[in-house]
Formats: sequence, structure tokens, C-alpha cells
Amino acid sequence: MATRQPFPDSDTADEAVRSTCDDATISKRYATSKGYWTDPYVQYFVRSVGERKAPEINRGYYARVQGMNHLLDAFLRKTKCDCQIVNLGAGLDTTFWRLKDENLMPRKYFEVDFPMIVARKIHNIKTKPPLSKPLIETHSTDSLLLDGHCLDSDRFCIIGTDLRDIPGLEEKLKKFHLNPELPTLFLSECVLVYLTPEQSSKLVNWASDTFHTAMFINYEQKERFLKTGWENADALDMMTVYSVLPQDDVARIERLEFLDEKELLQQLLQHYSICWATKDKLKLGMCFGCLHSICKYVHFGYRHCS
Ligand SMILES: C[S@@+](CC[C@H](N)C(=O)[O-])C[C@H]1O[C@@H](n2cnc3c(N)ncnc32)[C@H](O)[C@@H]1O
Repeated sequence: MATRQPFPDSDTADEAVRSTCDDATISKRYATSKGYWTDPYVQYFVRSVGERKAPEINRGYYARVQGMNHLLDAFLRKTKCDCQIVNLGAGLDTTFWRLKDENLMPRKYFEVDFPMIVARKIHNIKTKPPLSKPLIETHSTDSLLLDGHCLDSDRFCIIGTDLRDIPGLEEKLKKFHLNPELPTLFLSECVLVYLTPEQSSKLVNWASDTFHTAMFINYEQKERFLKTGWENADALDMMTVYSVLPQDDVARIERLEFLDEKELLQQLLQHYSICWATKDKLKLGMCFGCLHSICKYVHFGYRHCS
């Protein structure tokens, strides 16, 4: 086992990184208040709608959230929900509650973030019944673990740890029964960019070494997967994602707010990408070729999970 590195929570740089989870949640809260997509849970993490955001920012978040959700849902449907999800650097993300509402739950949904962020999230869950009720509904025994830094239930687990400490991450995920034999989806939405290239490669490498049937979806950087043991990797810039999302919904959100400078949106979208990598020992057919076919698959291959 590698020597564990100390990563003190008090570090100023880490504090700046942690604050990015508020930026993301505030922006998502604002976009949902304008009707870009529906999220009844984000209000419990950010109470006020906050300052106005420019339409291109809202459309950028729309493309990011819809693009990630399409890939995630495609994985769940391909595995018939007989899988687990690990959301790395989840922040105050609300995907667990969306999947519960849509009857599309994996066997277990894990989230990882810094202990300080996890403590805040758990406090919100404890004190807000609309957040705690779905969790209790999906838990069958009396073994619910809910303390300041960790939550573990049958279907949802939140772990406070540093993603740069791979042995620590692995130990905690194992403790809460992450199963290397189960198809596994890793999500990292705007997270790897806060690690050095070496640290993020180690993380992506660990995922590829540990799970034989898996997918890794990363919003932001593109060039990291094929060198790290994944069988297939693909990427789309967000301009392309925007153009292959269901166009009736895109037309709907474009009517929400007038966008004066289309070039600004274009520049913003071209700057980001979603990339994904897969390995498929179980031959589930997880080599998702392009998001266009995933969008079709998600729309027409609909299937609930329990
Ligand atoms: C920009 S936020 C994104 C949050 C969430 N994925 C979303 O899109 O709403 C980045 C998140 O990554 C987390 N993060 C960054 N580096 C981390 C590390 N080394 N260990 C644990 N969490 C980390 C931050 O605390 C923060 O919650």
C-alpha cells in the first residue's frame, strides 16, 4: 500500500477549490429557477435564487447537465440498473434524488468530496425532510449510518475524503461495500481540473485497474483516458453536445431568455467538453459511440429500475 499523504483541510488552495461547489450549485439553482430544467432539490442546498446570470451561462449549464444526464441514464439502462455509481467531487449535486424520482436507481449511489463539503451536505439532508425522506424510503434495515462526516444507507453513501489520496479513497469505498465485480459508473463533473495531471491520471488509472466493467464520464478535459487502461474513449465539445440534445427541448429553453450575442455562447461551449471512457469485460455493449445515438437510446429505450 502506498504511503498516505496528509492533505490538511485548512490549506488555502483547497478552500478555494471547495468553494467551487457553491459556484456550481448557485448557477444550477439560478438556471432551474428560469426553467432550463427541473430540479426540486437544489433549493435545499442554496436557499435564494441569487444574482442574475447571463443567458449564455445558463445555456452552458443546461448543456452540461443534460449532456451528463444523458450519458448517465444510458449507462443505467444498458446495465438495467444492476450497477453502482461513484460521483467523484459530487459537491452539492442532486442526482441521487433525481434518479429516485425517475425510478432509475443503481444498486448503490456513492458520492465523494472533501470532508467539509460532505459535512455540510449531510447537515442539509438531516435537517430537510424532502432530502431525507427519499433516502429513508430506499433503506430497509436499522443500520442507517448518519454522522457528521459520513452517510451510509442501503442505496446512498456519502464519503468525506481527498481524491488525491487513492489508498484512503479505496479503503473508504470498500468499507461501504463498493463492489469491484459490479458494472460501475464514475462521474466527475468539473472536478479533475482541480487536481494536477499526475493526480487525476492516478485516479483514472485506479478506476480502470480496479473495475473490469466500467465507464468514466468526465466534464471538461479530454485527453486522459486511453493512456490509462480504458478500452474506448470518446469526447464531444459542448457545442456538439448542444446540437445533438433533443432539439424540441433546446428550442424550448432558447425561448426562455433572449440571447443577444450568440458568439459568446459558441465560444463558451467550444471551450468545454464531455468525455467518456469504457471497459466492458461483461460485454454489456457499453462502447457508446456518440451522444446522438445515446440521446435516441435514452428516449426510445426507456426502462424503469427498482
Ligand atoms: C466545481 S465543483 C463541482 C461539483 C459537482 N460535481 C457539480 O458539478 O455540481 C468541484 C468539486 O470537486 C471537489 N473536489 C475538488 N478536489 C477535490 C479533492 N482533492 N478531493 C475531494 N473533492 C474534491 C470540490 O470540493 C467541489 O465540490
